[in-house]
Amino acid sequence: MSEKQSKRETFSSRKAFIFAAIGSAVGLGNIWRFPYVAYDNGGGAFVLPYLVALLTAGIPLLLLDYAVGHRYRGSPPLAFRRISRLFEPMGWWNVMANVVICVYYAVILGWAASYTWFSFTGAWGADPQAFFFNDYLKMAKDAGVSFDFVGGVFGPLVAVWLFTVAIMAFGVQKGVARASSFFMPLLVVMFVVMVAISLTLPGAAKGLDALFTPDWSKLKNPSVWVAAYGQIFFSLSICFGIMITYSSYLKKKSDLAGTGLVVGFANSSFELLAGIGVFAALGFMAQAAGKEVGEVAASGIGLAFVAFPTIINQAPFGQLLGLLFFGSLVFAGITSLISIVEVIVAAVQDKWRINRVAATLTVSLPMMVISSLLFGTTTGLPVLDVLDKFVNIYGIVAAGFVYVLLIALSGNLPKLAKHINAISSFKVGTVWYVCVLGTFCVLGYMLFSDSQKLLAENYSGYPDWFLNIFGWGMSLALVAAAVLLSFLPWHKEEPFDADAEEEKGDE
Ligand code: ALA
Repeated sequence: MSEKQSKRETFSSRKAFIFAAIGSAVGLGNIWRFPYVAYDNGGGAFVLPYLVALLTAGIPLLLLDYAVGHRYRGSPPLAFRRISRLFEPMGWWNVMANVVICVYYAVILGWAASYTWFSFTGAWGADPQAFFFNDYLKMAKDAGVSFDFVGGVFGPLVAVWLFTVAIMAFGVQKGVARASSFFMPLLVVMFVVMVAISLTLPGAAKGLDALFTPDWSKLKNPSVWVAAYGQIFFSLSICFGIMITYSSYLKKKSDLAGTGLVVGFANSSFELLAGIGVFAALGFMAQAAGKEVGEVAASGIGLAFVAFPTIINQAPFGQLLGLLFFGSLVFAGITSLISIVEVIVAAVQDKWRINRVAATLTVSLPMMVISSLLFGTTTGLPVLDVLDKFVNIYGIVAAGFVYVLLIALSGNLPKLAKHINAISSFKVGTVWYVCVLGTFCVLGYMLFSDSQKLLAENYSGYPDWFLNIFGWGMSLALVAAAVLLSFLPWHKEEPFDADAEEEKGDE
């Protein structure tokens, strides 16, 4: 067995792993989610719950993910099965959540790629909102499913998938790590220039005031704290199975705790930078329109595909700003998409022992087809909205809750702490245990409060049948598929002794 295990691909160096892990963490969540979440939840005051969430949940759970993947040396299904055979469905639950996330994440990258081009052509004209919904997405009036394909959306979506497949097929070091080592520095340079230009725009200070003026009263509201924890989970890619998978490719003697700190703080620094750049630009937009920043600030899709084109129309160097903003979205997103697909590819490779190229094609081609069928049409946006909402709750928060529960109940926390401490530059102890268990309580609370809201009223007013299929149905299907996949036989399963593997070191 050890022969096969020692042949598991590894990142060539700690630096390669750090680039890949930061590449996964820095994504759409940093650029278009964080600025608005921060603004909406107390502005400057949000920094407090955000930092608390980073230190008490983000970094501790990142280390937990690293320890699980590194000690048990597998994608989530294999790692959890090695802890206990009964835990394999937990791993497939992670995998299935990634299946759902990648099918819609790819389409947003497709839009961003189109908009990078539109920054030059100014295709959106004077009314970016009408352009996005009517001319670009050709959005149907009602939520539903149609097969009316929209060429302008379908084409870039397929291109994003083909690019991702090509990188994945090269493997962990030559594909994933190399792509991240190329795109991450490029992203940082582009984004810093974008922020610098934004800061020179008239009205930028007004935007920064809006973002950073603290509204301390918001801190009394539990939903602000939930938003901070939610942002940290999504942004750091924890409880997704991604960090378990990536750390399974780390060499045996690797400084897990030190690496976790670097990744956690790098991600949050980028997030703050994104907040500054985006709000400086929104300040300019507000000033030009004679409005308050609050009136022009928008979340997610509205921010990127409506507010930014408006800014680009009016700003000096608008085209350059557009190129940098949308190009950054594409580069940040592609390395995150790669990490999401990696979880699925790695799980298939681990379970059925097929080679990298075969596993990549087996996994990616069907997902490309599903992604194109669901989102390359006039009805893609509502489906995306519902899948995103429900998978975040029942694919990440719920799975994270069960994950920590299983690890704690099976008595694995001390073993994992010992594993981290044996190879890391700083040690984890009581504080780490308290943080992990505290995070478990936070995840439980998030699950409860989000479920209550979803049960009380139809999410975004969508019809029952639509939510029953793409929301509740999809969430149940994730768990059912996870259980079914666990029953499928392993190809050549070999015994694994985590303690003995630790002793052996790299071969
Ligand atoms: N962590 C990734 C993001 O922020 C998923 O987009």
